[in-house]
Amino acid sequence: MKDRVETYQERIERFLDRTLDPVGSPVPGLTVAMRYSTLGGGKRLRPLLVYATGEAVAAPDAALDRIAAAVEMIHVYSLIHDDLPAMDDDDLRRGKPTCHKFCGEATAILAGDALQALAFATLIDAHSGLGAEARIALLVELADASGLHGMAGGQALDLDSEGKDLTLDELERMHRMKTGALIRASVMLAARAAEADDATSRRLSVYADRIGLAFQIRDDVLDVEGDPALLGKACGADEQLAKATFPSLLGLEASRQRARDLVDEALESLQPFGREADLLRFLGRYIVERVH
Ligand code: IPE
Ligand code: IPE
Ligand code: MG
Ligand code: MG
Ligand code: MG
Repeated sequence: MKDRVETYQERIERFLDRTLDPVGSPVPGLTVAMRYSTLGGGKRLRPLLVYATGEAVAAPDAALDRIAAAVEMIHVYSLIHDDLPAMDDDDLRRGKPTCHKFCGEATAILAGDALQALAFATLIDAHSGLGAEARIALLVELADASGLHGMAGGQALDLDSEGKDLTLDELERMHRMKTGALIRASVMLAARAAEADDATSRRLSVYADRIGLAFQIRDDVLDVEGDPALLGKACGADEQLAKATFPSLLGLEASRQRARDLVDEALESLQPFGREADLLRFLGRYIVERVH
């Protein structure tokens, strides 16, 4: 399984490298910033989920590459903005200085903006092999996951929650929006590209929802007990900013347990699938066991 993960990680790296080609860029400095934050780092979990879903439902390769690149570019844009002084104010990301430390705040903001736009353009480029109707459906799904009802809305709730006590329901809703929505989209976009039937889509949707929430719970736990050298980002940042997190509300052990229960539910939902869903199962387990 590790070999397959590495093969997919190399595949998305090459695709992103080509997509962010610096040759002929009208603004080389902005391309440098986009490449700095996008290439050569990160676990590539969202692209891996795209390819793993592609294996489970037999989706076309050309569409998978574009979906994988699009969700990763939205993710990278969200990280660049998440790290800005006006948001979490972090200096380290993926083991190197954050984008604004590298190229200044204004360029970092614009690199995020440009990555967002490029994500949508890449998702539906002429080589995806998908028809017009399918491409519009993908656009709508990625837009929903990225915007007010998804990542950006969740990030606004996150900032608003600093210093406040959220209920468990409010915390789960915030996590599902800021992180879960894009993880869910990674799975559902690939399912849509394969024209998966309703029953299959429902099962994948439960899987994706549960691992999306579990992923952010694990991120919150690692912010408390992780190793910054492995994580490539600072720990203890959530407590410093008085963020509403799972460990702050439930404690560490209950948070770990909640993440494990969610992944159990995710794997249960994949039960009718055969070996073709093994990579999805592997990634589900990885999400709660990961140390970076
Ligand atoms: C970190 O995401 C930010 C969250 C949404 C929790 P990842 O842990 O997937 O970060 P990379 O892509 O591996 O750097
Ligand atoms: C980030 O959550 C979520 C998004 C970027 C959408 P965090 O603020 O907890 O992520 P890290 O811990 O900085 O990676
Ligand atoms: Mg944040
Ligand atoms: Mg942060
Ligand atoms: Mg975090």
